[in-house]
Amino acid sequence: MSKLKISPINKINKTITVPGDKSISHRAIMIGALAQGQTTITNFLSSADCLATIECLRKMGIEIQMSNDQFPISNGGKIIINGKGLHGLKQPKEELYVGNSGTTIRLLSGILAGQNFKTIVSGDESIQKRPMLRVAKPLREMGASIEGKVTKDNLFAPLRISGGDLKGITYELPIPSAQVKSAVLLAGLFAKGETTVIEQNPSRDHTERMLGYFKGKGLGARAQVLGGEEFAGAEVDVPGDISSAAFFMAAALLVPNAELLIKNVGLNPTRTGILEVFHRMSGKVEVLDEVIVSNEPRGEILTKSSKLKGIKIDGEIMPRIIDEIPIIAVVATQAEGRTEIREAKELRIKESDRIATICAELKKFGAHVKELDDGLIIDGPTVLKGAEIESHGDHRIAMAMAIAGLIAEGETVINDTACIETSFPEFEKLLASL
Ligand code: S3P
Repeated sequence: MSKLKISPINKINKTITVPGDKSISHRAIMIGALAQGQTTITNFLSSADCLATIECLRKMGIEIQMSNDQFPISNGGKIIINGKGLHGLKQPKEELYVGNSGTTIRLLSGILAGQNFKTIVSGDESIQKRPMLRVAKPLREMGASIEGKVTKDNLFAPLRISGGDLKGITYELPIPSAQVKSAVLLAGLFAKGETTVIEQNPSRDHTERMLGYFKGKGLGARAQVLGGEEFAGAEVDVPGDISSAAFFMAAALLVPNAELLIKNVGLNPTRTGILEVFHRMSGKVEVLDEVIVSNEPRGEILTKSSKLKGIKIDGEIMPRIIDEIPIIAVVATQAEGRTEIREAKELRIKESDRIATICAELKKFGAHVKELDDGLIIDGPTVLKGAEIESHGDHRIAMAMAIAGLIAEGETVINDTACIETSFPEFEKLLASL
């Protein structure tokens, strides 16, 4: 089983880049496959999750070439997709397998709902425990048939999906979820009439932006699509993933004498909640040189060592920082006073029960953490002690705890780190370079 050993460091002075954005890479593959003609994707994230999306579409007859067709290809990969238009997918001969990728299974369910053939889609043990009723409900309303393992109050993979003949709907999201929103919008591409998604607190809008980009509709990012409209392939350049950058920003905030410039990071406002959180904690984080490429803003982020204070985090910002809570919790252990994270119940159904796993692992470092039903309370600052940590098969827990290891006294060992491959294959190398 792979392990990561971390020793403390006392200085950072570097310029780095992080690999391409995971959410945007998934969407570029799926939307490229539904476009007519060639789509090229540069700076694609060649992680296990995004490669699973490629494999699923290949099984439905879409030709996808990678700059180096080995597994895994290195960061900065170029992808060429020969899209066959909205009606170009073929029934796969076998079950589609998404591995650990929630984004793949949920977004793909939207596309499969629009096909008049039956597909079975499943994934690893963790995927089979993640709730799918949230996507099945609106897709059934549109006319698709979605069956799976049924329990008292939810539905789980393997999912059997067949569809076609969908009708457009207006759907108000009961929970803020970009995956559910995207599944409905992607199904809407195949539906009669218009499909609209309404959300209370904005979640990431990459699907809306990318559909607008492919359809030549410029910047508007409304969660609305008109069914049956074909569109041509496009050239997509993927910005660096701010969720990956967040681990290194945190390292620069926490390590003394640190100054770290991260180039080419995605700065979509539905993803930059982490910058707001770090600012509110008095973190020295600055955005430089913002530009828009492929309908997504990007720029550089400069982070310096900071004296931090605890804050309360809840409400509207939650969908915009949902993947960053593990690293925010690590940073909070070094902040003066109390950090209270609330209204974050969604964390219980991510790749692991992140409220429980953050709490259990931070305690091993000697941090003062309390588990709440919908969040965490962290009192700081605490001098962390090196520890033996479990990843729980969750990439973001493994990486957040590795950053804690950079400021803990003595050696830290993170067990079972293969999961890091799902979103950030170069993490260990980049960490070593610090
Ligand atoms: C994602 C949406 C979020 C996020 C996940 C990626 C996406 O999930 O946690 O890592 O690409 O749409 P939810 O939609 O379940 O909140």
